[in-house]
Amino acid sequence: MPLTPAIADWPALPLRDRVVVVTGGAQGVGRGIAQAVLGAGGSVMIADLDADAGKACLKEWALPGRAAFQRTDVARERSVQALINATLKRFGRLDGLVNNAGIASAHGTPLDAMTLNEWQRRLSSLHGAFLCSKHALPALRASSTDTQTGAIINIASTRAWQSEADSEAYAAAKGGLVAFTHALAISEGPQVRVNSISPGWITTEAWQAPARRRAPKLSRRDHAQHAVGRVGQPDDIGALAVFLLSSLSGFITGQDHIVDGGMTRTMLYT
Ligand SMILES: NC(=O)c1ccc[n+]([C@@H]2O[C@H](COP(=O)([O-])OP(=O)(O)OC[C@H]3O[C@@H](n4cnc5c(N)ncnc54)[C@H](O)[C@@H]3O)[C@@H](O)[C@H]2O)c1
Repeated sequence: MPLTPAIADWPALPLRDRVVVVTGGAQGVGRGIAQAVLGAGGSVMIADLDADAGKACLKEWALPGRAAFQRTDVARERSVQALINATLKRFGRLDGLVNNAGIASAHGTPLDAMTLNEWQRRLSSLHGAFLCSKHALPALRASSTDTQTGAIINIASTRAWQSEADSEAYAAAKGGLVAFTHALAISEGPQVRVNSISPGWITTEAWQAPARRRAPKLSRRDHAQHAVGRVGQPDDIGALAVFLLSSLSGFITGQDHIVDGGMTRTMLYT
């Protein structure tokens, strides 16, 4: 065997035979990730509170062998246990978990008027990532081999790094997810890699359940404030998720990856 490997073709279907749970996968960014996993040859279990949206995905995809839906509340431990059991029963293995479910709106009540209930509800994406990771880890560890590891992706936000007013709870949830990511990566290596993705502005109107679906209304100015010249789409996040779930990213763990069309790199002087 030569010391230097020969040129190797990139895999056409990097997630072939891999099974991935995507929470909040029935709409928006999560649906973009779920469709990218399917496009990369994987199987997907979408876990979502919204049963109509989940059933619509299965109908529209028409891939009964590789796509399934389980109604799930990621903030309830029993519901999460049932999700992992249903996934193992349906597909026989689990290789990837994407913790995406959460309240998408960043803006809450001003802090001095916020109730503890609202604070806790707005942190549900962080609680969900804890519960889903806890119950998925035994199966993710078991899927690890010499050539590939189990993988977790936490969907954070550029709001983990910069803020508008009245977004403390959302920022705390997303900053918490970034820190949760590096802590879990150190605990679970080498069997499971853990990364986060921090999306910027992603337009999700066209990726909702059929009854709420509509074309996004975006102005030239909305697009122009991005260095790439446009607002993001759910499949922009799906593309990186496929890479981070696949063995192509085997040397990457514990990191946050910003996908924002350059918005947080733009210097603003008025
Ligand atoms: N859209 C953006 O611009 C943007 C930017 C940065 C980060 N994010 C993050 O991406 C993730 C998805 O956001 P989105 O914009 O696609 O929102 P969305 O509302 O379009 O989709 C969220 C999905 O999660 C589901 N969900 C919500 N709470 C749940 C729970 N407790 N259990 C199970 N499912 C639940 C909803 O039913 C819905 O299908 C969120 O974590 C959000 O913070 C979005």
